[in-house]
Amino acid sequence: MVVGISAMVILISFFINFVVNQQSKTVMLNNAFQITEGLAKQSIFPLLSGSKENADSAIDQVLGFQSVTKVKILTEKNELFIEKNNDNTETLTDYNKPKTTTVVIETLQYWVVSSPVKIKQEFEDSFNFDTTNTTLPSIEEEVIGYVEIHFSKLDLINAQKRITFIIFIVSGVFVLFLGVLLYLSLVKLFKPLDTLEQAMEKSEKSGEHTLVKVEGAKEIRNMAKSYNSMMNVLEKHEDKITLHRDQLEKEVEARTKELINARDSALTASRHKSEFIANISHELRTPIQSIIGYGELISEELELEGSFELLDDMDKVSNNAHRLLTMINSLLDLAKIEAGKFDVNNTELNLASLIISLNDVISPIAASNANQYTCTNQSSLGYFYADREKLEQVLINLLNNACKFTKQGQISLLISNDENTIFFEIKDTGIGLTLEQQQYVFDEFRQVDASNSRKYGGTGLGLAISQRFISLMNGYITVQSEINKGSVFTVAIPL
Ligand SMILES: Nc1ncnc2c1ncn2[C@@H]1O[C@H](COP(=O)(O)OP(=O)(O)OP(=O)(O)O)[C@@H](O)[C@H]1O
Ligand SMILES: [Mg+2]
Repeated sequence: MVVGISAMVILISFFINFVVNQQSKTVMLNNAFQITEGLAKQSIFPLLSGSKENADSAIDQVLGFQSVTKVKILTEKNELFIEKNNDNTETLTDYNKPKTTTVVIETLQYWVVSSPVKIKQEFEDSFNFDTTNTTLPSIEEEVIGYVEIHFSKLDLINAQKRITFIIFIVSGVFVLFLGVLLYLSLVKLFKPLDTLEQAMEKSEKSGEHTLVKVEGAKEIRNMAKSYNSMMNVLEKHEDKITLHRDQLEKEVEARTKELINARDSALTASRHKSEFIANISHELRTPIQSIIGYGELISEELELEGSFELLDDMDKVSNNAHRLLTMINSLLDLAKIEAGKFDVNNTELNLASLIISLNDVISPIAASNANQYTCTNQSSLGYFYADREKLEQVLINLLNNACKFTKQGQISLLISNDENTIFFEIKDTGIGLTLEQQQYVFDEFRQVDASNSRKYGGTGLGLAISQRFISLMNGYITVQSEINKGSVFTVAIPL
C-alpha cells in the first residue's frame, strides 16, 4: 500500500511539476512578446527620424527587465540601427525576419523574440471622380525596421528548479508521513496478535496453560478472551484426567496386589500338590511292584501245572500292572520336575555304548510292528557330557513313539554334531502329525486323538517329560512332520 501510494504521489508530483513549468514558460513568453511589441511601437519615431538618441531611453527601459540581456533595433534593410546589451554573450542573429512578433531563435539558455516595426499609411484614391460614391481612404502597413530582444531563460530555469524542489520535498514528506503512520498502525494492530501467538507457542511447547493479556483491536481482544477460556477449560479437563489417572493407578496397584497374592497361593498349592505326589510315589509303587512280583510267581506255577487258560488271564493282569507302573512312573517324573526335585547329573558318556543299549531296547519293540530300525552315527565324538539316565529315557521314549505310530516302516536314529551341539534325529515313516498337532504334542496329557490312547496305548506324558528333561540339560526338542508320511523329532543338547 505504501509503495503504491508513494508511486502515485511521485507520478502526480511529476505531472504537477510539468504543468506548472509549462504554465510559467507561457507566462514568461507572453510577457516577452508584450515587451517586444511595446519596444517596436516606441522605435517608429527613432527609425523614421534616424536619431539613435531617441531610441536610447526606450531601450534602457527594456533593459531594465531582469531577463532581458540584449536589445537590437534593425533597419528595414536589416542593417543594425542600434544595439545595447547587459552582458556580452554572443548570440545567433541569422534568421528570417518575421511578419509578426515571434520567437525567432530558441536555445537552452535564451529566446530571441523579434517584432517588425510598422507604420500605417493612408492612401486617398485621387483618380476616382465618381461623386456618388464616397470612397474611404485605404490603410496599408509598412515595415520600417525590426526590434530584436534577447531574453535569458536563467530566471525561468531557476524558478522551475525551485518549483520542482518544493513539489518533491512536499511529496517526499507526505510519503514519509504516510509510511510512518502506516507502520505505527500496523505495529499497534499486530503486536497483540504477536503476543497471542507467542503465548500459544509457549503453551504448545511447555504443555502449560498460559493465559494471555487481553489487549489490542476488538477482534484480537475477542480472540484472546476465547483463547483464555479455552485454556481454562483445558486445565479443568486435565485436572479431572489427573484425578482419574491417580484413582486408576491406585486401583491397579490394589488389583496387582490381589493378583500377586492369588499367584503366590496358586504356586504354593501347586508345590504342595507336587510334593504330595512325589511323597505318595513310594506308596503307589510298592503295591504295584508286589502285584507284578506275585503275578510272575503265579504265572510260573500255572505254567508248571499246565493251566494255560488261567495263565492267559494272569498275563493280562501282569501286563496291566506293568502299564500302571509305567504310568505311575511318568506321573511321578512330571511331579518331580514341577516340584524342582530333579537335578541334572552330567557324566562322561560313551556314545558307542549308548547306541548299543538303545539298540538292545528298541530292536524288539520295532520288530513287534514289523518296522526296520537302523542307527547311523555321523558324529565325530567318542565321549560327551550329559545326564545318561535322562537322555536314554528321552531317546527311548521318542523311538518308542516312532515304533508305536509306524507299521511296517523304517525307524532310524541319526547322530551328528557341530561345534557346540550334539543332535539325535529320530525319523519314522508312520502316521505323522498335522501342523496343528505339532503345536501341542509336547503338552502334558495331550494325545493327538483321544481314540489314539485306546488304539496305541499310553498316557500322553512321554513328550512332555522328554522336553522338560532336555530343557534341564539346556537343550531343546523340535518336531517336523507330515501327516501319513512320517515324523522327525530332533533332540539337541549343548556340548
Ligand atoms: N512318531 C510319532 N508319530 C505320530 N504321532 C506321534 C509320534 N510321537 C508322538 N505322537 C503323538 O503325540 C502324542 C503324545 O506323545 P507322548 O509320547 O507324549 O504320549 P503317548 O506316546 O501317547 O503316551 P506315553 O508316551 O506317555 O506312553 C501321541 O499320543 C501321538 O498322538
Ligand atoms: Mg510316548
